[in-house]
Amino acid sequence: MSAPTTPPPRVALVTGGSRGIGRAVALAFARNGADVAFSYRREPAAADETASAIRGLGRRVFYRASDAADATDAARFVEEAASELGRLDVVVPNAGIAPDTGWEEVAPETWTHLLSTLLVGPYATVRAATPHLRVSGGSVVLVASIAGFSAYPEELPYAAAKAGVISLARSLALALAPQVRVNAVAPGWVRTGMTRELYDDPRSRTAIERSTPRGRWGEPEDVAAAVIFLASDGARFITGETLVVDGGESLGWRVGRLR
Ligand SMILES: NC(=O)c1ccc[n+]([C@@H]2O[C@H](COP(=O)([O-])OP(=O)(O)OC[C@H]3O[C@@H](n4cnc5c(N)ncnc54)[C@H](OP(=O)(O)O)[C@@H]3O)[C@@H](O)[C@H]2O)c1
Repeated sequence: MSAPTTPPPRVALVTGGSRGIGRAVALAFARNGADVAFSYRREPAAADETASAIRGLGRRVFYRASDAADATDAARFVEEAASELGRLDVVVPNAGIAPDTGWEEVAPETWTHLLSTLLVGPYATVRAATPHLRVSGGSVVLVASIAGFSAYPEELPYAAAKAGVISLARSLALALAPQVRVNAVAPGWVRTGMTRELYDDPRSRTAIERSTPRGRWGEPEDVAAAVIFLASDGARFITGETLVVDGGESLGWRVGRLR
């Protein structure tokens, strides 16, 4: 018996889609023939530019500022997007921040803000999208990080939240089965606004290149390619997984690289 196939996504929703990884994901879906809804936080110029790039690819776009840390507005954004574009086939809760918090004196409000943005917001987005995804037989691709697998005291709440995203992918995959698949990507170091300071400093830029078996930083398009795969028919029997996209960085150290 041949496996049932699913058509390519017709409408994709990406939170934090104006810059960085989210922008690359939004454009990759548009290039693959999908209309796109995306949110951003506070830089309308970048959002306008991404929207016109999507239109330039011949696709429809719906976008507005919507704070991922506000679960109520995150859910409202999903409803508006589904209503404007007619359906939802894939949802990518990508919006994120990564402040240097350390581990010693993390204020309760810092915890609340990070967890709201990185964990509660994505949950609210998926929860609101579930009825639409059940109808379309669609899927979710969450954006975790290799920080969610490893120890990362420099940004302890970020790492804990990203571990939570990996857990969310697994629990939601069971909860939404069989109609909706839920997976995650876990990027390593990717060259975006979030990592600009590290990339601009030759010492950290080189250290990261040397600790990455592929010998370079990740580009947003590297992550977008993995998201497109997880949302595609090629991944039709994959759910609850987190796909690491880090050029091998999390495999471990070789002494040779220290020299
Ligand atoms: N870059 C990396 O090395 C890396 C590695 C692992 C995982 N990740 C994850 O990948 C995701 C994207 O990161 P990135 O590197 O592409 O970041 P980025 O370049 O800083 O872009 C972040 C995007 O998210 C939006 N955003 C931020 N906070 C938001 C909020 N509260 N509500 C709505 N939109 C918000 C921003 O909009 P505005 O411009 O309007 O603020 C922007 O479009 C994040 O979840 C991050 O944790 C990144």
